[in-house]
Amino acid sequence: MPWGVWWASSGPGTALEPRPRDAPAPGPEEAHLTPHGKLYSGRFGEGLLPELERFASSLDVDIELAPFDILGSLAHARGLHTVGLLSKGQLRAIEKGLGQISEELDSGRFAFQETDEDIHTAVERRLTELAPDAGARLHTGRSRNDQVSLDLRLYCRAVCAALTGGLAELVEAVAVQALRHADLAMPGYTHLQRAQPVTVGHHLLAHAEPLLRDADRVRSAYAAADRMPLGSGALAGSTLPLARELVAEELGFSSLTENSIDAVSDRDFALDLVYACASIGIHLSRLGEDVVLWASSEFGFVRLSDRIATGSSLMPQKKNPDIAELIRGRSGRAIGSLMALATVLKGLPLAYDRDLQEDKVAVFAAVDNALDCLEAARLMVENLEFDATRLAEGLDDDGLYATDSAEKLVTEGVSFREAHRRVAQQVRESSHRAPWGPARSVELRRLDVRARARAVRRRVVGMRRWAETHPPPVAISG
Ligand code: ARG
Repeated sequence: MPWGVWWASSGPGTALEPRPRDAPAPGPEEAHLTPHGKLYSGRFGEGLLPELERFASSLDVDIELAPFDILGSLAHARGLHTVGLLSKGQLRAIEKGLGQISEELDSGRFAFQETDEDIHTAVERRLTELAPDAGARLHTGRSRNDQVSLDLRLYCRAVCAALTGGLAELVEAVAVQALRHADLAMPGYTHLQRAQPVTVGHHLLAHAEPLLRDADRVRSAYAAADRMPLGSGALAGSTLPLARELVAEELGFSSLTENSIDAVSDRDFALDLVYACASIGIHLSRLGEDVVLWASSEFGFVRLSDRIATGSSLMPQKKNPDIAELIRGRSGRAIGSLMALATVLKGLPLAYDRDLQEDKVAVFAAVDNALDCLEAARLMVENLEFDATRLAEGLDDDGLYATDSAEKLVTEGVSFREAHRRVAQQVRESSHRAPWGPARSVELRRLDVRARARAVRRRVVGMRRWAETHPPPVAISG
């Protein structure tokens, strides 16, 4: 779904244009608005200063919530109809109006106004132009506080599916490369010093495992978002008999939020999601770092295919791992978003505070960054070419087999401490020789890359299926 495209593609006439302070009184189609062009400023004698109007507006960010806002309003309207607060005709008028608004947003024809504080007011303002009586009833029993929580929860559920899909594709690429290089031995490192032989397949799968755990994190962020908050109102619920269960069912939520004050203040679900994105960023940065190292002349374990390399504007010979470096560097955004959101939430008094408007900047940045990086990492992994000669050169180091030598002595009945001492002595005297080559070394340690790679690919199938079935399909039509 091209969220955000509407904003970017807004043509002339859709840009935010200030309503002049001496503008004529609203026409009949704007009769629901106060003289300041607001849906809610009935008690105000003057409008907000234009500079502050711009400062307070979140429209350029929360435009991304538009499809979810419309979906949430459709479900809310159905609920109002069910409990007799909207007639059949009024419900139809709202459905028709929201359908048209959706098209206007999609095509870039939606005319935003300076007084549209956020996407919620923009949609409601336009609806009341299209269907004045019915539109004026849509906000019954609802506050923007529970509305924005609903919209963000719907967004989070949708992007959890996209993130799981992105993770699945990357993990699949890693597992395919791991299978392809299941037996290709390479030096394994601790402290970036040669340690023991492993295989390229085993090393690659070590990058798949954290990504699988990230998929669990994303799924748990989905579960946190999967509660329906409408009915909480501004903070204290509503005197009206709202059909919360029905609204939740319409939108495919598993359950309802339990406490109205918590419901409008809670952004834990967003924090969970941003944390999952930060974790993805951290893991991808480690993968990027490995590729940067491996592509260096000093290691030379991978050759950078032209498809994933860049040149230097000055040095003709250069072939740089910029993509791997960018993937590593982009983790800064991921961790930055986590810090930003945690800082916004810290110390906020219950219940809703306008600070919470800042949540979306962090969430959207984290999600967009994670989706971009997952795709870039997949393309990088798919295009990795390993250099068997350089890997073999790296394995030609008796020290890599010192642990094997000690364990061989153990099988001959020597205590491990004594075996360690004897081999260390040999290393010191430069007399230690590998007892066997890399193939036998990795075989003896039963790294079992093929079995694990196949199991990982089965997890990928499950992740893809989950991504396709979540959130559940919603039956509401505009
Ligand atoms: N744009 C606001 C936000 O994102 C919507 C809620 C505004 N509520 C309020 N009471 N001013 O948080």
